[in-house]
Amino acid sequence: MTEVAATSALPGRAEVMLADRFELRVHRGAALTGEDELAAFIGGAAGALTLLANPVSRTVLERCPQLKVVGNVAVGYDNVDVAAAAECGVWVTNTPDVLTEATADLAWALVLAVTRRLGEAEEYLRSGRFRGWALDLLLGTGLQDKRIGIVGYGRIGRAVARRAVASGMEVACSDREPVAGADPPARQLPLDELLATSAVVSLHAPLDASTHHLLDERRLRLMPRGAVLVNTARGPLVDEAALVRVLESGHLGGAGLDVYEHEPEVHPGLLRRRDVVLLPHCGSATHETRAAMAELAAANVIAVLEGREPPAPVVRGR
Ligand code: GLV
Repeated sequence: MTEVAATSALPGRAEVMLADRFELRVHRGAALTGEDELAAFIGGAAGALTLLANPVSRTVLERCPQLKVVGNVAVGYDNVDVAAAAECGVWVTNTPDVLTEATADLAWALVLAVTRRLGEAEEYLRSGRFRGWALDLLLGTGLQDKRIGIVGYGRIGRAVARRAVASGMEVACSDREPVAGADPPARQLPLDELLATSAVVSLHAPLDASTHHLLDERRLRLMPRGAVLVNTARGPLVDEAALVRVLESGHLGGAGLDVYEHEPEVHPGLLRRRDVVLLPHCGSATHETRAAMAELAAANVIAVLEGREPPAPVVRGR
């Protein structure tokens, strides 16, 4: 019987979908973060369901010659060596669309949490310091009539834009592709100009060699004084040490981060700051969305192993 390996327990109906058709083994312990342990677990499987923490490197792919499809349970796939997969004839699939709204909700929550100082406000109350309403208590910054600069105007970027429009913001974006006709419409600007003119910048670009440290110190300093950076995409898009320096210099108004350069480590300079809201990479973390992601990943793997086109291909295999 065809073997399928899932590197984590899968929510929703995903495990049943796979176990009905294949010999399914599921890793239920700590995440497989090493190449050796990952290759040993995938072993002779024809299909693997993987997470962002699993390094599906060339070494792993070469050590698993029976592998036909990697079903990454995520929209991002920077944990997979896609060039090596293409060379090895292994399909790679991802889980777009089903997580768009949940991730945009979380990005928007971070925009509000930073600009309205929600973390500080909650800590203030819980520590027993709240003595009643006051005109000058925990004032934040309004969003209305200000510009949000969305870096990467794909599905999630546009979903964040819809939330920004509903809050009375003007939307501008930068993207590698022309965004004419996108909904909602956004003024497309070169990245430097976008950064220099936005009160809030939200990152929604994929991580690859061309976007690593897209926001380096020079670009962070282009942002207007008091501007806010939100990152729910991938940590290495931002030079995290530079971000700490720019925050410490008082240039930025704060940051809301769900992802980190060296995840799960968080720069100690960020942990110290009260103008920074930090979340543990939970953009798509709703019950509904995680079930939909796992089921889409399972549908991808099933389609390939049954000789059909998968719903969400990234790399076409053999
Ligand atoms: C999560 O970060 C994802 O890429 O789905």
